[in-house]
Amino acid sequence: MKTVQFSNGDQMPIIGLGTWKSAPGEVYSAVKEALLQGYRYIDCAHSYENEAEVGQAITDSIKSNIVNRDQLWITSKLWNNSHAPEDVQPALEKTLANLQIDYLDLYLIHWPVALKRDASFQASSKDFIALCDMPIETTWPAMEQLVDKNLCRHIGVSNFSVKKLQTLLETAKKPPEMNQIELHPYLQQPAMIKFCRSNNIHITAYSPLGSGDRPARLKEKNEPILLEDTTIATIAKRQDVTPAQLLISWAIHRGTVVIPKSVNAERIKQNIGALRVTLPQDDMAQIEKLNRDRRYVSGNFWALEESPYTLANIWDE
Ligand code: A2P
Repeated sequence: MKTVQFSNGDQMPIIGLGTWKSAPGEVYSAVKEALLQGYRYIDCAHSYENEAEVGQAITDSIKSNIVNRDQLWITSKLWNNSHAPEDVQPALEKTLANLQIDYLDLYLIHWPVALKRDASFQASSKDFIALCDMPIETTWPAMEQLVDKNLCRHIGVSNFSVKKLQTLLETAKKPPEMNQIELHPYLQQPAMIKFCRSNNIHITAYSPLGSGDRPARLKEKNEPILLEDTTIATIAKRQDVTPAQLLISWAIHRGTVVIPKSVNAERIKQNIGALRVTLPQDDMAQIEKLNRDRRYVSGNFWALEESPYTLANIWDE
């Protein structure tokens, strides 16, 4: 398995199984199938509301000798309602209990957005805490302590702008080692990639296939469908691969970790097959031209009326 390397020598698989939107009832067999097919990284989050089932699949796969815990890379994410320093370790412990494991390989702050402790996953305007009242810099030391306590090996963030990374780097004793962000040919984020490279921060590409199974409330009318892009289709045909394999391979060629989500056994197998694809520079250059700075996960669910969050202050764009 191709990997990216952390400064302490730990190797993270460059492809993992995404589990956002994988429903309980489907995710158990998806994770088991992925581990059978050779995936060694499962990407999780408390807010996906399926960690217990993911954990059962991991436990059963370990029991059946398909994989050992130390061959696995498990990432999870701190939900927005647990940014208060005293809530960070209990949140991680809940995730560990659900996943039936005693440490995470990587724990990420899921969003630069804080919610009140009792907020539900679908926040309403009364649930928000402004970042000035709950700054990331007060949450971060609690993340650092998780590493000291061996509850996770690495810490990082998700959905952070360059500006927010810069601010965090100014005070962090343990700098964030990962930013997990939306990345695909329609949203290539070259400045972010350059910044992370020069600051020793790895990148994980989420929604690499365009996240077509997002709930309707997160979709725009007539949005472009990445998996149906004609340039992608033409290059995929020429390389004798599927469009999904091309998109995954493109992410790998850029040196980003990539987490395609699937609950379908055939597609789970197809997606890891992207590791075998070699893309010539010409194809990479053609795909580079497809950028249109288009977010499928716009963050508009945080930018509600009366919320302190706006798309401008989330992305700093
Ligand atoms: P399914 O889970 O039924 O396979 P993203 O990773 O960008 O969030 O995209 C996930 C969406 O892409 C899901 O709808 C998933 O459906 C679909 N998908 C995953 N793998 C493939 C593939 N190889 N070909 C086509 N669609 C895929």
